[in-house]
Amino acid sequence: MTQAGQLSIGGVLIDAAAIQRRVDELAVEIDAAYPVLEQPLVLICVLKGSILFTADLARALSVPIELEFVACRSYGDATSSSGTVELVKDVSMSLKDRDVLMVEDIIDTGLTTSFLRKHLATHHPRSLRLVSLLDKRSHRMREVQIDFRGFDIPDHFVVGYGLDLAQRHRNLRAVHIVDVS
Ligand code: IMP
Repeated sequence: MTQAGQLSIGGVLIDAAAIQRRVDELAVEIDAAYPVLEQPLVLICVLKGSILFTADLARALSVPIELEFVACRSYGDATSSSGTVELVKDVSMSLKDRDVLMVEDIIDTGLTTSFLRKHLATHHPRSLRLVSLLDKRSHRMREVQIDFRGFDIPDHFVVGYGLDLAQRHRNLRAVHIVDVS
């Protein structure tokens, strides 16, 4: 298995087929939640971790969408939160009166999402909801309302399907547990 210092990529937590099935189910839930849209739903991909999830979700949705990207910095190359969040890249369009769906890879402490939700609210969207592929509740520091949830996961650092360890392993098709040895 792949080595990264004292950390190695371990077993599969969620395999690729299970991810794709759940993404399709989430798309059905999301389609149903927006029966009447005045304008396309704005999917906000939170870079970089959400990029693969956003790409698959966007293709599974039937409602019309537009894509936007934001980037925050909260983790360095370590496997724990730095505790502070800053915006590195903002949206490049007006969100005023738009239906907006934030697309997250994982909610861990909740700091990133609560920061982003507050920030995006200042753009005055018509609605602002959140879909997260993974929910890791054990380290939650801020209460976060997850409108559409993929999987609850236990207290492990995970990689794959967009999630990284020091920028690596985002291209794994499954979600893997990182072993500390
Ligand atoms: P939070 O602010 O603690 O909720 O974490 C937000 C960000 O931390 C996520 O969008 C991920 O980029 C990163 N993160 C949290 N847990 C993991 C993990 O287990 N693997 C990889 N990245 C993680």
